[in-house]
Amino acid sequence: MTRPVSAPHDAVEVIAAKRDRGELSDSQIDWVLDAYTRGAVADEQMSALAMAILLNGMTRREVSRWTAAMIASGERMDFSSLSRPTADKHSTGGVGDKVTLPLAPLVAACGVAVPQLSGRGLGHTGGTLDKLESVPGWRADLSNAQMLAQLEDVGAVICAAGTGLAPADRKLYALRDVTGTVEAIPLIASSIMSKKIAEGTGALVLDVKVGSGAFMKDVDRARELAQTMVALGTDAGVRTVALLTDMSTPLGRTAGNGLEVGESVDVLAGGGPDDVVELTLALAREMLQAAGAGDVDPADRLRDGSAMDVWRRMIAAQGGDPDAPLPRSRETHVVRAVRSGVLTRLDAMAVGLAAWRLGAGRARKEDPVQAAAGVVMHAKPGDEVTRGQDLLTLHTDEPERFDRALAALEGGVEVGDEPAPRSALVIDRVAG
Ligand code: URA
Repeated sequence: MTRPVSAPHDAVEVIAAKRDRGELSDSQIDWVLDAYTRGAVADEQMSALAMAILLNGMTRREVSRWTAAMIASGERMDFSSLSRPTADKHSTGGVGDKVTLPLAPLVAACGVAVPQLSGRGLGHTGGTLDKLESVPGWRADLSNAQMLAQLEDVGAVICAAGTGLAPADRKLYALRDVTGTVEAIPLIASSIMSKKIAEGTGALVLDVKVGSGAFMKDVDRARELAQTMVALGTDAGVRTVALLTDMSTPLGRTAGNGLEVGESVDVLAGGGPDDVVELTLALAREMLQAAGAGDVDPADRLRDGSAMDVWRRMIAAQGGDPDAPLPRSRETHVVRAVRSGVLTRLDAMAVGLAAWRLGAGRARKEDPVQAAAGVVMHAKPGDEVTRGQDLLTLHTDEPERFDRALAALEGGVEVGDEPAPRSALVIDRVAG
């Protein structure tokens, strides 16, 4: 095959090298990602390469170079002018995972700035921006200058990632989505970390979810993903730590946009469900420690109201009204216990799917979401329940959605005689 004089490689050569279990050179990686972003490598060629990577893996050097090349495809943000250190958190996504909402203002209240670039939900897991957009007036889009100003003034920003960060990832992620190659650990790790490193945070805490409602269903794969991401962060000079946390049952007692904002405000007011508080504090401690502020106890900032003060300022700075009532659904349907006993199972995937089908999530990127749709859980695994007691309340604006939501819950909610063994919320910690 002939190649243009100026191109050091061609796509078939790079695909064949990975197909034959070879290690790609730095130059091959730099070239293929740059050429793909420019449109000089076709989608079908990148699909073949992604599949070869899924099947044959990558060495630490290859993933590190792949990540660097994705970062180099776009802009890098710089927070070095801020008067305080920065720390960010990334969750691989779960059901009822609203932790970013109380966590960002809490860590800011402890003196560390939190630049949190977030996304929208797709499928059964919710997106932080969709949740915050249920606050009347709140807007997700900020310029880099507005973000920097808010970080200096308020200490916390949760906003949409601009299109300038790692554009190679944006293109590749959409391709992986339709070619069965999302699951490749080197590609997941480089996708997440390229955006986080380009964002410019000084410290990063990863919440890698494990269980039925998570991307990673088993702990060994979750640990491998965590180790790969921690290594990437460390190699790039970002102090990175990962917690592996349970996502076999939803976090907290709500799944759905506005419902989760309400629960987050409860946590900031010093209440809220124990598991949400536990995970928020565990992640806050890790962020503070990684940012060099480990002597501050975040529990004090929840108790004394200073985290709530930052929340109110953070919402108001982006046009939101922290005092406005959250939207309420037009229709509700209650699921009751069919017998007395102990709730033995409340499956995260079942609840996530139900919330999605009620209108809280989207099937395609351009779909709208309902602010008030979702599921309220009145009991959690291990709780005693009596026959006829309310277990779940389903919320939606469109009652024709109830049947499919109820079908999603079939087999996902069980009452038995003996409590099932509970796994710890924080399963493991991976540090560099
Ligand atoms: N989230 C990302 O940003 N990228 C992936 O590949 C998977 C989850």
